[in-house]
Amino acid sequence: MSSTLDFEIMRNERPASAAERERVLADPGFGQHFTDHMVTIRYSADRGWHDARLEPYGPIPMDPASQVFHYAQELFEGLKAYKQPDGSIVTFRPYMNAARMNRSAHRMAMPEIPEQLFVDAVELLVRTDKDWVPDTEGHSLYLRPFMFATTRALGVNSPADEFMFVVIASPSGLYYPRGIKPVTVWLSERYTRAAPGGTGEAKFGGNYAASFAGQAEAVENGCDQVVWLDAVERRWVEEVGSMNLMFVYGSGAQARILTPALTGTLLAGVTRDSMLKLAPDLGIPAEEGRISVDEWEQGCASGEITEVFGCGTAAIISPVGRVKGRDREWTIGDGEPGEVSMRLRQELVGIQYGTRPDPYGWVHKIV
Ligand code: COI
Repeated sequence: MSSTLDFEIMRNERPASAAERERVLADPGFGQHFTDHMVTIRYSADRGWHDARLEPYGPIPMDPASQVFHYAQELFEGLKAYKQPDGSIVTFRPYMNAARMNRSAHRMAMPEIPEQLFVDAVELLVRTDKDWVPDTEGHSLYLRPFMFATTRALGVNSPADEFMFVVIASPSGLYYPRGIKPVTVWLSERYTRAAPGGTGEAKFGGNYAASFAGQAEAVENGCDQVVWLDAVERRWVEEVGSMNLMFVYGSGAQARILTPALTGTLLAGVTRDSMLKLAPDLGIPAEEGRISVDEWEQGCASGEITEVFGCGTAAIISPVGRVKGRDREWTIGDGEPGEVSMRLRQELVGIQYGTRPDPYGWVHKIV
């Protein structure tokens, strides 16, 4: 392992027993159980990144005046480790996550982490806790690298200069217990997720905190997820829940895909990027552009839009079956998962789980 830092290895002396682990792996849910270890790395302006450690998973002692508690200076990433048919373990495009964390860090006045150090930390944790990578089809080990400000100060005139980077791992089943059953989405008029010049394209914890009220509003209205519209005109479709959105026009050999362009208010999803590359190779042209709510409704009424789905690392692909707003409501196609959505899902999952070739070099072997 070539690394910019040597990791101190502090093994968990009380790891879960094989029986406990098996019990968790039998029904992991999403993000509820954690492995025996975590990686921590500290940063200070004078020392740079230092004190890299593999240590037992557990609480992190924090000063109550740490800036993250007051001003939410926190970033995170999400990627998964997958068991392959030959028993080896891989992850998917980890350098993309590292690069995105650094773009987010730039926006949030936080330090960049060397990409190789990010990937080394992920690899070390997966290698150490490899017995936690599920064997069950569709399950994986969800990896959560995150970074936050530990500077002890309540003033906001000078940026934080001490940070911590941590990686934890969580054996996971389906993100939505309903699986690929299409969701009904709510057009929020009350809340927006991101404004131009804001933090929408950063994977910043606060973006998610600010989305919870919109999500609650969706649930109150009998929907599963909230659709975010642009903050200026409130008509351009941006994202759904915590996922990017894809619109399928036409069907069969005529099918093509449109996804909202990265205008600065959207997250540059790794799954989104993978779909944009995968689809054309399957004969499905894919482009970035923009689509308004009215165009969405009219496109479904005319039959031009045949499928819509959300995509992200956690859920992979989540078909959208129905759209609801304050005074409008419509169904997409026949409200069932579409052929194009399912084909793309199968291709991507096949590459990730090693049952299909990976012509792109996306799969990154760990052990
Ligand atoms: C993802 O789609 O991978 C996410 O970002 C979901 C995460 C917030 C749980």
